Amino acid sequence: MNSEMTSAEYIAAVSDIISKRESPPLACVHSYGCQLNFSDGEKIKGMLGKMGYGFTDNPENADFVIFNTCAVRENAEDRVFGNLGFLKHCKEQNPSMIIGLCGCMAGLDHVIQKLEKSYPFVDIVFGTSALDRLPRLLYEKLNGRKKAFDTNEYNMPAEGLEQVRDSSFKASVPIMYGCNNFCTYCIVPYVRGRERSRRPEDIIKEVQGLARDGYKEIMLLGQNVNSYGNDLEEDVTFCGLLNQINAVEGDFIIRFMSSHPKDAGTELIDTMLECEKVERHLHLPVQSGSDDILEKMNRRYTVEKYMETINHARNIVPDFSFTTDIIVGFPNESSEDFEKTLELMKRVKYDNIYSFIYSKRSGTKAALIEDKISDAEKSERMTRLLALQREISTESYKRFIGRKMRVLADAKGKREGWLTGKSSDFIIVEFEGEESLIGQFVDVEVTAAKNWAVTGKII
Ligand code: 5AD
Ligand code: SF4
Repeated sequence: MNSEMTSAEYIAAVSDIISKRESPPLACVHSYGCQLNFSDGEKIKGMLGKMGYGFTDNPENADFVIFNTCAVRENAEDRVFGNLGFLKHCKEQNPSMIIGLCGCMAGLDHVIQKLEKSYPFVDIVFGTSALDRLPRLLYEKLNGRKKAFDTNEYNMPAEGLEQVRDSSFKASVPIMYGCNNFCTYCIVPYVRGRERSRRPEDIIKEVQGLARDGYKEIMLLGQNVNSYGNDLEEDVTFCGLLNQINAVEGDFIIRFMSSHPKDAGTELIDTMLECEKVERHLHLPVQSGSDDILEKMNRRYTVEKYMETINHARNIVPDFSFTTDIIVGFPNESSEDFEKTLELMKRVKYDNIYSFIYSKRSGTKAALIEDKISDAEKSERMTRLLALQREISTESYKRFIGRKMRVLADAKGKREGWLTGKSSDFIIVEFEGEESLIGQFVDVEVTAAKNWAVTGKII
């Protein structure tokens, strides 16, 4: 065997080694972080399945454990190192266990150094662009190589990788990889490289296949979907792509994330409203309600510019649903800056927010700022922000009472005989129903509202 072998040949070679074992080995693939990572995790499982691995959720039973990691905040990183510590004991019991680490942490030099110094039992490491190199790395490991690392390249991930999808009715479809924006707090551009858009033909082919297989929700993914196509020779934009996907035959809905407010303007809202399959919900991460902080974050929009998009949607659909991401405690965020974020939340009335205390990521520009705000102050701000959001959603969810919603039934609810799902506006809906409805659209009349969900009856 030589280095000219293709990924498919490595898959066949590993599969050959594995087929000689008494029983198929088990792999445990654990993904952390964002949906793009989970989508990568599905591709990793696809390759492992082809190589003859079965799957388990319990790392203690596994022959091959892969942590598909996230580097966006420090606590995600700490959790992975903690879990690796646990695996060390499992490997002591089962020395033939192979341990792999991939995802965003694999793109950080300090992580690689720490792995080499303190976690020598980690066998395989590969970055987000090297997914299809897993078969080669595994082949090398099985053939006695001590360590197989492949981290620092930002290629276009391979097309056509087999996928073991986590759901039979909801599918993620990455449309682009990487990010060009360099928000000053964010590590993503350093670990995922520059923007690379998939060709529209490849995306459409994948969506057609999913629609044929009966998938009901297609989630288009990218760090900033609105700049889709900027790097392609052909003249294609995200709005153009939405139109093309909307025209694919089938009974499915389209969602997408994330959008960047500097690029998500009125045209996006108009396109969303024209495309009947695109749901009426926009996740529009604002990060802060203070223009000063937005500038320090290098976000390249002002609050008023952001509000133009919100107002445009609300002029047409008065309760168009918005959700957002907010960072609390960016270095030296003053209490006035923070109050402006609360003001913005009251103006927009988000249906949900994902809020994070700022986490210093070394290598980013913001990490160089000397921060004078204490952790206690940041926690207190977070508590106030969450309390305000609870008030806002308690009030605004009442608007759904008496309304009919089309809901994709998603999972069993907490109460016996109940199901949960999401409405077009991305609201959690709880209702009584048979388990067999999971994966199907149902019409629900909303009878009551809480601050995080609504409840209703199937019509
Ligand atoms: N600290 C806290 N939150 C962060 N995010 C990204 N980087 C950081 C950081 N260093 C948040 C942003 C982004 C979401 C995915 O994660 O709000 O929109
Ligand atoms: Fe990070 Fe900003 Fe890129 Fe989002 S747009 S991934 S926050 S750099």
